[in-house]
Amino acid sequence: MSTIPTTMRAIDPAAPGGPDVLVVTERPVPMPGPGDVLIRVHAAGVNRPDILQRLGRYPMPPGAPTIMGLEAAGEVIAVGEGVTTIATGDPVTALVAGGGYADYVVAPAVQCLPVPPGMRFAEAATLPETWFTVWANLVDLAGAKAGESLLVHGGTSGIGTTAIDLARVMGLSIIVTCGSDAKCIAAKALGANHALNYNDGDFAPQVRELTGGKGVDIVLDMVGGDYIPRNLACLGVGGRHVSIAFQKGGRAELDLALVMRKRLVLTGSLLRPRSVAEKGAIAQALAKEIWPMFADGSLKPHLFKSFPLEQADDAHRLMESSGHVGKIALTLV
Ligand SMILES: NC(=O)c1ccc[n+]([C@@H]2O[C@H](COP(=O)([O-])OP(=O)(O)OC[C@H]3O[C@@H](n4cnc5c(N)ncnc54)[C@H](OP(=O)(O)O)[C@@H]3O)[C@@H](O)[C@H]2O)c1
Repeated sequence: MSTIPTTMRAIDPAAPGGPDVLVVTERPVPMPGPGDVLIRVHAAGVNRPDILQRLGRYPMPPGAPTIMGLEAAGEVIAVGEGVTTIATGDPVTALVAGGGYADYVVAPAVQCLPVPPGMRFAEAATLPETWFTVWANLVDLAGAKAGESLLVHGGTSGIGTTAIDLARVMGLSIIVTCGSDAKCIAAKALGANHALNYNDGDFAPQVRELTGGKGVDIVLDMVGGDYIPRNLACLGVGGRHVSIAFQKGGRAELDLALVMRKRLVLTGSLLRPRSVAEKGAIAQALAKEIWPMFADGSLKPHLFKSFPLEQADDAHRLMESSGHVGKIALTLV
């Protein structure tokens, strides 16, 4: 522990605001508690929830660090009491409840996954938040199975590109929506079977047509608002609707007759406030089912661009412009 400094660089905005509030400041290096590891962060992933947090629109779970960042990759430099599965020197990528935009972050050992062989830290840092989210919602909540069909909005988002990957390796067919023809082309290149430009008319009739009138089995929704009734129209009998965000608002008018007639299930989840044990269970499933595919090259990270920590404001501007396909990272080493 003697080589660990007492202070570090971190992004911990004093007040909500625009990208300009993302200035590098000095904070104490956190100490790992029982079951935790301390990671020397090489790179941190940037996610849309970070934008909401910066704007003051993301209620933080109690006890979460105020330093921004929900995922980080680096080298373990200290382990807390009781940690037997990870050793000092191990390269890991971790899901954290906050604190990723800093030189050092504490993560529960059970929320760490190994950096896949040959993968750069900047790439590995972009995996946990979207893979934990997509797995938890599509597999655990929606019970996705091979041969089923899936509609995902925001097909080129961090979540959307991960959903395309998971659907592909699980054998689901996938329809995505995107805001431009260029993004539709990008989503199809990543493996989407169909990509619909949501600015070219209502996606719902197109989805019904693409599925021969049957409808899809699952909708993964990050839009909310007036998309909800249209999503329900896209679902077939026994369909599952999974909400993970509501960029167009959290309220919607539903036709319950449709829910009853098609026996629909409406569900959703938030990853960040879930317990360490729940996140650990998701990590175990990913380690077993998904991480071997990063090792053998059948899955790849989708890092669009990385920025040094000092340019976190530019990283957020890029995300807010929606100019990216896949993920954005910050580099610290
Ligand atoms: N529930 C959870 O635990 C959880 C965890 C992580 C993320 N999330 C949420 O998941 C969403 C994606 O996160 P991310 O980090 O992947 O963000 P991101 O890469 O910035 O993507 C946001 C996406 O939203 C799409 N979008 C916005 N308005 C749309 C509309 N009207 N129709 C279709 N798509 C629309 C954008 O598509 P275009 O650019 O094509 O317009 C863009 O691809 C965010 O809302 C985030 O808050 C939830």
